[in-house]
This record gives sequence, C-alpha cells and structure tokens, in this order.
Amino acid sequence: MQPTHATIPQPQKIYLADYTPPAYLVRHVELTFRLAPKATRVIARIQFAPNPAAHSRDFFLHGEKLKLIRASIDGTPVQPVLVDGGLTASVPDAPFVWESEVEIAPIENTALDGLYMSNGMYCTQCEPEGFRRITYYPDRPDVMAPFDVRIESDLPILLSNGNPVERGAGYAVWHDPWPKPSYLFALVAGDLVAERGAFTTMSGKDVSLAVWTRAADADKASFALGALQRSMLWDEQAYGREYDLDVFNIVAVSDFNSGAMENKGLNIFNTAAVLASPATATDMDFQRVEGVIAHEYFHNWTGNRITCRDWFQLSLKEGLTVFRDQQFTGDLHGHAVKRIRDVIKLHTRQFREDGGPLAHNVRPESFVEISNFYTGTIYEKGAEVIRMLHRLVGPVAYGEALDLYFDRLDGQAATIEDWLQVFQDATGRDLTQFKRWYQQAGTPQVSVVKEYADGILRLTLRQHTPPTPGQPDKLPLVIPVAIGLLDSEGREILATQVLEFNQPEQCFTFSGFDDAPIVSLLRGFSAPVILRQENTSEELALLLAHDTDSFNRWDAGQQLARRTLAAMVIDNAPPSSTYLNAMQAMLMNEALDPALRALILSLPSEEDTAQNLALAGQIPDPDAIHAAHEALKNHLAEHLEAVLPGVYAAMQVDAPYSPEADQAGKRALANATLALISRTDHGQAAEAQYAKADNMTLTLGALASLLSIGRGNSQLAAFATHWADDKLVIDKWFALQVTEAAPRRLLNMLNRLTALDTFDWQNPNRFRSVLATISANPAGFHQADGSVYRFVADWLIRLDSVNPWTASRISAAFDGWRRYDTGRQALMRAQIERIAKAPGISREMSEMVGRMLA
Ligand code: PHE
Ligand code: ZN
Repeated sequence: MQPTHATIPQPQKIYLADYTPPAYLVRHVELTFRLAPKATRVIARIQFAPNPAAHSRDFFLHGEKLKLIRASIDGTPVQPVLVDGGLTASVPDAPFVWESEVEIAPIENTALDGLYMSNGMYCTQCEPEGFRRITYYPDRPDVMAPFDVRIESDLPILLSNGNPVERGAGYAVWHDPWPKPSYLFALVAGDLVAERGAFTTMSGKDVSLAVWTRAADADKASFALGALQRSMLWDEQAYGREYDLDVFNIVAVSDFNSGAMENKGLNIFNTAAVLASPATATDMDFQRVEGVIAHEYFHNWTGNRITCRDWFQLSLKEGLTVFRDQQFTGDLHGHAVKRIRDVIKLHTRQFREDGGPLAHNVRPESFVEISNFYTGTIYEKGAEVIRMLHRLVGPVAYGEALDLYFDRLDGQAATIEDWLQVFQDATGRDLTQFKRWYQQAGTPQVSVVKEYADGILRLTLRQHTPPTPGQPDKLPLVIPVAIGLLDSEGREILATQVLEFNQPEQCFTFSGFDDAPIVSLLRGFSAPVILRQENTSEELALLLAHDTDSFNRWDAGQQLARRTLAAMVIDNAPPSSTYLNAMQAMLMNEALDPALRALILSLPSEEDTAQNLALAGQIPDPDAIHAAHEALKNHLAEHLEAVLPGVYAAMQVDAPYSPEADQAGKRALANATLALISRTDHGQAAEAQYAKADNMTLTLGALASLLSIGRGNSQLAAFATHWADDKLVIDKWFALQVTEAAPRRLLNMLNRLTALDTFDWQNPNRFRSVLATISANPAGFHQADGSVYRFVADWLIRLDSVNPWTASRISAAFDGWRRYDTGRQALMRAQIERIAKAPGISREMSEMVGRMLA
C-alpha cells in the first residue's frame, strides 16, 4: 500500500498545563511478534473505545521508525495518514478493532530504546516512549490495557509480561491481566538460564521466581534472587502490598541505558545492577543490587498498579519508590549508614543540578524530551519530599495515608494532586504550602542565629531559595527541622523534636537551661536544604564525639573537614588541629560502627568543596581544591600514622565472605585506613592486601590505594588479564584508572583507554566507565587548557548519533560551567556550543545543551 505523507510541525515543548485526556481508551491489546534481527514483524490487534471524558475525537497513534505493512479497522483495510511521530485515521465514533502490521529491525537499534538486540538476545526498553518504536499505539501512560502477547522465535527462552499461557515449538503465549500503560510492556527472547526460586504471598499464593542470565553468568544470580524474596516479604510487612501474578521474572542484559526497568512481571536489568558474586562484586555492588531489585519490585505497586497520568508526574512513582527502597535498605542493614550514603549522593548529584542551569521542579511544568528528566531531582529530591511528609505526619498517619492511596487509586493513572489529596484526607492536614516542594526548584538555604541568655535559647531561622531558570522569585517552604540539644559535656538534654519552619524568618525558643546548650540541627537530614550555621569548631567536635544522632555525628565531621579544606584553599592555612584530633578520637572509638567510622574518615568530595566555595562567593579553582584534598589526606595519614595499623588490623575478617553489614563495615574501614596508610608506607600494606584478597572489595580497595600513590601498574595488568572475560569487572578496571589518574595525566590516560580494543564504546556501561567517571576526577576534567572538555565533547557527539539517551545524560558534566573562572567558562561554553551545532544532534542532546547555555 502507498500511505499518504503529511507533516505537522512538532511542538518544541510540551506543557503540563496542556494535558488533555486521551480521545480513545484501549480495552485490550493482542500482539504477535515474529522475531528476526533485520525484519521483525509486529502484528497488533487493539480494541479501542471512545473515551467519554475526552475533549476531542481525533484519533492519533504514536509510531517512530516503523515500516507500516498494513492496517485495518474492524477488518476493513484502511490507509492511515502518516504524520511526524505517528499516524492518524478516521475511525468510528464507537468501539472498534484496529489491526496493524509493522516491520522493525531490532539489530539496527543502537539507541537501546524499543525492541533491540544485545549479544544475540532480543529485549525491550519502553519507558518512557519506546513502545512507539515497536508498534503504532497511544503511547501515553494514562492509556491502560490488559495485554496478550504471542512470541514466535526459535530461541529457547521467550518471555513477556504477566503469566505464561502456552509454550510450543517456536512460540510462546503470555497473558497480563492487569491493565498497564505501554511503557511497562516487555519482551525477551534468548538463550538464557534461570536461577529459580519461589515465594508464598501473605494470602498463600505461590509465585515462581526466576533470574535469567547468560550461562556464563549463572553463578552470579543467586544473590539477586534472595534480594527479590526479601523485597517481596518486606513490601507485605511494611506496606501490606502483595504480589499479583503467578510468576516474576528478572532478566540481566549487558546493553542497557539505565539501571533497571520495572516492566510488569518481567523486570529487565542492567547486568551491573543484578549480577553479584564475592569474587567479582564489591560490598557496595551487593548493596546496590539489593537496592535496585527492591526498587523495581516495589514499583509493582507504586508505578504499575498505580501509574502516572502523564510524564510530568514521574516523581509520583520514582520519588515514592526511591523512598521505599531507602526504607527497605535501612530496615535490613541499618538506617544511619544508609542515610549518610543517600545524603552524600543527594549533595553531589542533586544539589549541583538544583544550583545550576539544569535545575527543575520535582514536578516539571514543561519539557522537550522527558528522557532528560530521569534526574536526581525527580528521584532523590522526590524521595526527600516524601521523607519530609513522613516526618511531618508521623509513621502511623503515613501508613494510613498509603493505605488510602492504594485503595483509592489502584488501577489508575494518578497525579501529584491525587497523592497530596490522599494525605490531606487521611490526616486532615492542609498541604497547600507543602506542595511548593513540587513546584519550586532550587535548594533552599537555611541560616541559623543562636542567642542564649538567662536560661533561654532563641533560634532564629531564615530561609531563602535562590532563583532558578524561569523562577526568579520563591515562596517560603514548609521545612521540618529535627532538632536535639546537648549540654557542654555532650549529654543529650533534649531528645529529637521536629520544628515546622514555614515562614521566611521564624523564631523558636527553648528554656530551662543552666548553661548554653549545644544545638544539633537538622538531625537525620530532615530536609533537603543547605544549612548555614555559625558553629564553632569545638561545638562540631563535641557533636562528632557525642551526638545521639549518627547522621549529625557524620555531618559534624564533614563540616569540620569542609571548613579546614576551605581555609586550606583560600588562605593556604594548615589543616585545623581540631579536625585532625577529632578524627583520631573518632577512629579509636571502638564503640562506633566501623562503617560509620569509614564514612566519617572520608573527606567530602572535591565536587562538594567546589560547591561549598561557590556558595561562599568564591570561584572554585579545581587545581587548588585537588591540592588541598591531597594535602589534607597526607596530613591525616601522618597525624594518624601511629594508630592506623592497629585499626586496620582490627578490621580484618576471617570468616567466609558475606556482603552483610557487619563484614562490609569492617572492609570499608579497612580500605579507608589502607588509603591513608599507603601514603606513608609506599604501598606495602596495599600490595599485601592485593596479594591475598579473595573478594572484589579488598582487591579494588588495594588497587585504588596503589593507583592513588602512583603505583600498582603490575597489579593493574594482572587484574586485566585475570578478569578479561568479565565485562563488569573490566568496567571497574577502566573506571578506577580514570578516577585515580593524576589530573595532569588524565587526558593521556583517556586517550590510551579509549584506544583499547576492549573499549566497546557502544556498550553504555563501558562508555560510562570512562566518560561518566571523568566527573569523579574534577581537577582532571577541568584541565586549564580545556583539552579534557574537548575530549568529552568529541565522545558525546559521537555517542549521540547512536545512543542519545546515554549521551545526553553524560552531557550534564558541563552543567557547572558558570561556576568557574572566565577562562574555563569560555572553554566549556565553546564545547557546549560545538555539541549544539554538531550536525544531526538528537532532540535529547539539543535540549540539554540548550538549557545549559540559556
Ligand atoms: N523506571 C526505571 C526505574 O527507575 C528507570 C528507567 C527509566 C529505566 C527509563 C530505563 C529507562 O526504576
Ligand atoms: Zn524507579
């Protein structure tokens, strides 16, 4: 057939305010896939019905990169009008059946969006808008339908969403009874093996579980299976949520743009987020695998059963699901350490985003490409907003609100308004002001003035949110400030209370003291704000030594370190002895969890120091920052020289490897102390650890220590040979060399690494292991001649032509360009502009660079 071609201009931006309900709803979807690498046929039979709530009767189906073979309505062939991004047709004003057959070429799909191939296996990624690359469909999350899928292929394992119905020679049939949006569709076909398990739900239903991998990875799947079982149990116990299908499948794929995807009943995972064995994965990898398994599993209720009305509501599922996975990990392994790690991530990733040209609301109001909004703000700040809500209403009311949320909105595509309404109805609390957390970008700054006289402590809090793109003026937010008080001996005299700080300026008084109390503010990081308080170093040392709130102990140590680093950078000052002594006392405190000691001993990142200096009105000098960090580490190493070996020795684990928190904490402290020891023993202890390590945590810790002092070449070579067949381990080998390279040698290193045969740049994990890791070496990235900027831009342009998602994500490396000196600004700007003007640049990338330049 000869379809007619017409072009309607694509709107540049999509606005939340323009939302209209779909013209037609889908009652049922039936898909048949005849798989072939170059010419897969997809036959879709879709039952449509007019939507009584619609504003129009315009029939539009999304479709991209599809070759239309035929189409019919109620069995009668039709010739739809192909337009940009899809097709239109005239259809009856009554229920009808649409049928289409299209051809696609999964082997040519390098964007890894839609149906694609990875090492001979077919797999899909549909969120947010990949389904339109599979067939013509109303590819929007508020259109939900049950799916029946038939897969035809000679490959041995054929999987789709829902429950298996039939398996025969060369085909399999799946049925998913739960209405779902197209972004949750999934299909996998390949030569895979299963790690199998089972779970009996709270109402006694048996569920078969499987984690599917290539045969070579079969020994790395059992941890993920256990993590899935723990997640299923936790969601029943903590949220009363039961699983709702007969099977749950997880598939590991080595070419994947993101971490993992929560497709209904068939989660698809980046191998990096699912495979783990002691020899190949670090303790942090184990924890990440468990966290991501939990996250994707929890989406079954928060994301799948209740989904998003439109992509502006993305944080409705992501913020909530991140909060849930954080609770889960905290419950299983301890809340203090988990909270600190999450806040470190928030500080480096989200605060930076929120303070630069890419700042956006937790619920954006417009976008060009939704794929650019899978960000720290949507995920991590979104989770912080829910954590604040949890704190404000308390755990019991939170539980009641969530029950109401599931009761009221199950099976629906919901909004942030629906979510907040549930809390208003369940708790009677007016959330009008609280809603601003979703509507206002930027990290609020909170300053504190403390006055003490006659037994009365007066705290004056002021809040201010700096302007962000498109939002010059900000309104005051509701900020829960958890506070406790200590006396001058470090004894707690006021247990944690939550202040509701909701005015531009607000005063809180506490009375009945004999002496000025020490204030422990923002305990547990009770709000995602930048706290500016004028503590003395002595007060911080006291909090570090005695606060009952572990988070604030860590934070006091970080504040001391920040202060000392700032003074070293700005005034060339020697490191503060208060800091060095406090570190020594902390390190020797055997009552303190080793994991916590490791975190306290670790300096804030160089990125953190840059942010901190920028906040203080300084232009951060990446070389000076790096030099100060190095100098402080050397000072620490010397100051602690006498005690480090004893702590290191006490952290050795004799028992067989387990990724559990007690062992992992010891290894974390062993590695943290080893890094300092290496600065004075020329790498002797690190070489010994490398030689006898039988797990990846200790191996990599030793290697990092060696590389950081300019040694370890023979170990690096041996490592590469030993692990040549394991892609995930070789990713670590690439990344470590980038992180640990001396800044001046970074460009050489990058050129050398990217010239290797093993630098398979079209594989997102491998690309990221080099290109995304550069931002972990800021002094290297910001080489004053701009050479690394150019290197990054070259690779982004190259990757963008095959994989816009991964390329545009990494382009955010340039988002801090305005913070730096005019020379670096000009150099970075030139590279961002060069990307913007590169021929054929994707919409994703052009939106990113456009926002960075605006
Ligand atoms: N929805 C996934 C998650 O956070 C993330 C994802 C987005 C994966 C887009 C792939 C593509 O759980
Ligand atoms: Zn998610």
